[in-house]
Amino acid sequence: MQKILDAILADELDTIGSLDVPQSYRAVTVRADAVGMFAGLDTKEKDPRRSLHVEEVPTPELGPGEALVAVMASAINYNTVWTSIFEPLPTFGFLQRYGRMSPLAKRHDLPYHVVGSDLAGVVLRTGDGVQAWHAGDEVVAHCLSVELESPDGHDDTMLDPEQRIWGFETNFGGLAELALVKANQLMPKPAHLSWEEAACPGLVNSTAYRQLVSRNGAGMKQGDTVLVWGASGGLGSYATQLTLGGGGIPVCVVSSPEKAEICRRMGAELIIDRAAEGYRFWKDEHEQDPSEWKRFGARIRELTGGDDPDIVFEHPGRETFGASVYVAKRGGIIVTCASTSGYQHVYDNRYLWMHLKRIVGSHFANYREAWEANRLIAKGRIHPTLSRVYRLEQTGQATQDVHSNAHQGKVGVLCLAPEEGLGVRDSILRQRHSEAINRFRGV
Ligand SMILES: NC(=O)c1ccc[n+]([C@@H]2O[C@H](COP(=O)([O-])OP(=O)(O)OC[C@H]3O[C@@H](n4cnc5c(N)ncnc54)[C@H](OP(=O)(O)O)[C@@H]3O)[C@@H](O)[C@H]2O)c1
Repeated sequence: MQKILDAILADELDTIGSLDVPQSYRAVTVRADAVGMFAGLDTKEKDPRRSLHVEEVPTPELGPGEALVAVMASAINYNTVWTSIFEPLPTFGFLQRYGRMSPLAKRHDLPYHVVGSDLAGVVLRTGDGVQAWHAGDEVVAHCLSVELESPDGHDDTMLDPEQRIWGFETNFGGLAELALVKANQLMPKPAHLSWEEAACPGLVNSTAYRQLVSRNGAGMKQGDTVLVWGASGGLGSYATQLTLGGGGIPVCVVSSPEKAEICRRMGAELIIDRAAEGYRFWKDEHEQDPSEWKRFGARIRELTGGDDPDIVFEHPGRETFGASVYVAKRGGIIVTCASTSGYQHVYDNRYLWMHLKRIVGSHFANYREAWEANRLIAKGRIHPTLSRVYRLEQTGQATQDVHSNAHQGKVGVLCLAPEEGLGVRDSILRQRHSEAINRFRGV
């Protein structure tokens, strides 16, 4: 592994293909024999630092159409929070189901799960049939794993019946020194970014792109008012940028003055601090309070000069969904990709049908959408929102930061990279955007 790292650091990428692939590597895992460890605890009390381990695991065999990547950096996504607390289900069920598909897929069904759905690194080896990528290429990987054998996914790859999120529903994820991906997941690493900056937008930026911009999602247009929940978080920090970049008007919802400030620094003007304004959409566990929906809607109108949101960018789920349906504009769209606070949503359907609103489900991004989202990063139109970077051994703490909502934007992890700031190729483009690239740092 050291020889591979030395070659990358010495910029001897043309030698990478001739170096031996290590038989094992260090990886962040959860273990199948630990799935019961948090029994009886509340979600918030389940601590990823107890379930995530860094251990040496065997390097998987490379299959056709695949690539083995030396991972310089990765990032924490909320799916690693779910995996590490074994909610809503332990991910080993996903691996077993995948393993039943074919002898090649059987490699993924192991008593440990190497997690992580983002990476920036260097291609080490490619499998049979891979033409577009070669050892030594500097890459990022999106997390859509599909088989593409069914016509269902041929128009929109997210509709493939064998669609999986790499590093969550498959093994050999990105929080490790090596990762196994399908070669179709690879995309060029944005040249003006360091490894850790390049690794952090992938999953959330692609998801926000489909959810908000793509015609498969809300299809935002110029002038649209977009209510963005968690506007300084992983998804939200990209939704806010995409809204501004596409000529929309974001109304950013956050929960602290610091988060409000970072939204202002991204260029947003309309901001609601949900904690300071004390919205309580639920009276108790069973009943919502429509007067709070109304108070929230009135506040949005006060900020926008009377406009309701054309689009509500939803992911908190149960806690906010009733309010989201209520405040959306007549004919507007509530586009949802998650249910962080609970997946049994309750809303008053009269406000949906009488006002001709639509609820649209969205999940990650198809190949093309992920490529377009990465292109925006590479062109310096959308910027990474990296706030803090941990070492691989500290992945438990990094995941706990996201679990406890103590973070801003994205939390990065150095895998093989010995320090931050390496891997930049285009310093002129970087210089042009340096303030935006560093906006979330240390806040
Ligand atoms: N389907 C997909 O493809 C996909 C892709 C990415 C993520 N997701 C899911 O989307 C969710 C968010 O992911 P993320 O990366 O954005 O996480 P994140 O970085 O934790 O950001 C989420 C933000 O949502 C806000 N929030 C959390 N709970 C809330 C609540 N009860 N009410 C209102 N706001 C709340 C918080 O912001 P404030 O406290 O500042 O309001 C938080 O910072 C997760 O459940 C994740 O699994 C799904």
